[in-house]
Amino acid sequence: MKYRHSFHAGNFADVHKHVTLLAVLEAQKRKDKGFLYLETHAGSGAYDLGDPAGGNRGPRAGLGDVLSYTKGEAEIVQYAQAVQQWRTAARNGQAYPGSPVLAAGALRTQDRAILLEIQPPEAHALERALLSVARVRVEIGDGYERLRAHLPPAERRGVLLIDPPYEETSRDFERAANAAGEALAKFVSAVVLLWYPIKDARDTQLWRARLAKKLGAEMLVSELWVHPCDSQVALNGSGLVILNPPYQVAERMREWLPVLRTMLDADRTGGELVEVLNAK
Ligand SMILES: C[S@@+](CC[C@H](N)C(=O)[O-])C[C@H]1O[C@@H](n2cnc3c(N)ncnc32)[C@H](O)[C@@H]1O
Repeated sequence: MKYRHSFHAGNFADVHKHVTLLAVLEAQKRKDKGFLYLETHAGSGAYDLGDPAGGNRGPRAGLGDVLSYTKGEAEIVQYAQAVQQWRTAARNGQAYPGSPVLAAGALRTQDRAILLEIQPPEAHALERALLSVARVRVEIGDGYERLRAHLPPAERRGVLLIDPPYEETSRDFERAANAAGEALAKFVSAVVLLWYPIKDARDTQLWRARLAKKLGAEMLVSELWVHPCDSQVALNGSGLVILNPPYQVAERMREWLPVLRTMLDADRTGGELVEVLNAK
């Protein structure tokens, strides 16, 4: 197990995933009733983009522009503010929060979080990052396995993030899709976000069409490419499927995703997609 998210923290895919996650959590909070936020692959939660030992590979293209975005699409402003608040609290202008830290910061007193991470050093770092946040539990173990034990939650409301490392690409595509299916089988109304890498868009298009057919749930697809979808670059784009998307998340995404792309894909070599499958 060698995967280190610090090599990828703050890149265009992380930004796309984190803006989307906060938008979904915000929509989930329209109802007062509390919910469970659960991550199967949480990571360490706290990264330092200025630390070469942490895998920093130079500036993250477009991140500066996104973090300076103060007016316009509410979803991007909300994300930029959350990162800036974390930087202020960490007293480090290069600090970058992972998804569990961003999510924990968005939860209310009636919500709770369970964060699963397989690598003990990452899990311990996550515990340290979230020491001051109540109603958050970090568990060390296999997120795919432990997911089942926590579903359905007592609240009967929940948001799940499945964000595997895709070191064994085809195996993770299969395991992540199976985990989403198992989650819905135990908890039919779960809002499930599943992140996936886009290398060759023809493969991912087939995979998500099969997933939509197999699960039958409403499925919002959000994709952001920064390279042509058939180029030989390792990672051309970032994708998320959102099962049971909350009301109006898709409509709002059609507004903010193109704006986010202007900052992350300044050369305009990529593209974006918002699509709803199995619309209810
Ligand atoms: C892509 S990173 C997570 C990034 C995080 N969600 C974020 O956006 O900040 C994937 C994480 O999954 C962990 N991991 C790998 N296999 C796992 C498994 N089977 N169960 C739980 N965690 C796993 C890795 O150690 C790594 O920290």
